[in-house]
Amino acid sequence: MRVLIIGGTRFIGWHIASGLIRAGHSVCVFHRGSTRLEGLDGVSEILGEKENLSSYRDRFRDLHPGVVIDCIGYTETDGRKLIETFAGWIPRLIFLSSCDVYRAHAVLHRATDDPVQATPLTEDSPLRTNVYPYRKYASGPEDWRYDYDKIPVERMLLAQSGLDTTVFRLPAVHGPRDYQLRVWEHLRKMEAGRKVILLSETFSKWLWGRGYVGNIAAAICHFLSKETVSSAVFNLSDPVALSQKEWVEQIAAIAGWTGEILIVPDEFLPDPLRGPYNFAQNWTIDASRFRTATGFTEAFTLEQSITKTIASNRANPPTVSVEQAERWREDDEAEERWLAGR
Ligand SMILES: NC(=O)c1ccc[n+]([C@@H]2O[C@H](COP(=O)([O-])OP(=O)(O)OC[C@H]3O[C@@H](n4cnc5c(N)ncnc54)[C@H](OP(=O)(O)O)[C@@H]3O)[C@@H](O)[C@H]2O)c1
Repeated sequence: MRVLIIGGTRFIGWHIASGLIRAGHSVCVFHRGSTRLEGLDGVSEILGEKENLSSYRDRFRDLHPGVVIDCIGYTETDGRKLIETFAGWIPRLIFLSSCDVYRAHAVLHRATDDPVQATPLTEDSPLRTNVYPYRKYASGPEDWRYDYDKIPVERMLLAQSGLDTTVFRLPAVHGPRDYQLRVWEHLRKMEAGRKVILLSETFSKWLWGRGYVGNIAAAICHFLSKETVSSAVFNLSDPVALSQKEWVEQIAAIAGWTGEILIVPDEFLPDPLRGPYNFAQNWTIDASRFRTATGFTEAFTLEQSITKTIASNRANPPTVSVEQAERWREDDEAEERWLAGR
């Protein structure tokens, strides 16, 4: 099959492209060219800015794609561009969404007075009623977090005639090339020889639905072999959800770190070490609808996936953004002060 990926060179999209090539599909990625096609032998590219997506319509049509996979739809504008470009001629559209569409996200981020939501979240769990879930963290209108909201994008794509859209709601994805550094944020402390990793009590118990990128990409590739499915919306997630303490323990065990994970009651910690979130709201994901509908099973166990990520992080220590580095520096200093004063 010919597959056009909008995005596809950074993390999840990269793994999907790589999996599709391995499975014998023909893949073209559309991106700006600020990233390179490294490790994607056989993939072709069209360079452009997603803002001008519809001006590439004829070039996309010349490829005769059987499916388009959108990896970079964040805003209503992005949704409208997808419709302008692909409605009426593309056989199938896959839209990568997020489990941040669920109301549990608003409870976790203290953006609502709604009670703690039942988990694990299914595709029928209530959606957020607040809009722009990350705007309060944005530095200004230029920041991607300002207009980000996948709910309206999902709605407009699913309602659009002439567009056969399947929405995948993703969990927290980790693995090689992860730029949100979900393993490295803990591994970096272990690699630096810290003796203690400190976790607030509520955070240590908080359950977070994660997906190893190899499993997430495999699920999307598997889906392409299915002609008919029972739903237009699927959650994806690995079957086992760990608490934060268990997550750090797993990383420590595989990394060979023998320090202490110190759990401290929240009231004994300063604000930066407690975090702004409501950790009474777990964020675990039920992906059984997808498994049942398509016969998919995740190939990588938790242990295998963390092992692969650690190996990759050690071989290529991740690049940390200036903003992230600054946040970690503040957290590390607060942690050191607290440990020194206890
Ligand atoms: N990571 C997670 O935990 C997680 C969780 C939930 C949902 N998701 C969703 O998963 C999707 C995949 O994200 P990903 O970053 O891993 O995907 P990706 O497709 O591997 O990387 C992003 C791609 O978009 C291109 N790009 C970025 N801005 C562009 C623009 N303005 N115009 C054209 N191309 C542009 C980048 O290349 P250039 O820089 O070369 O343009 C790159 O190819 C996203 O929709 C995200 O919301 C991720």
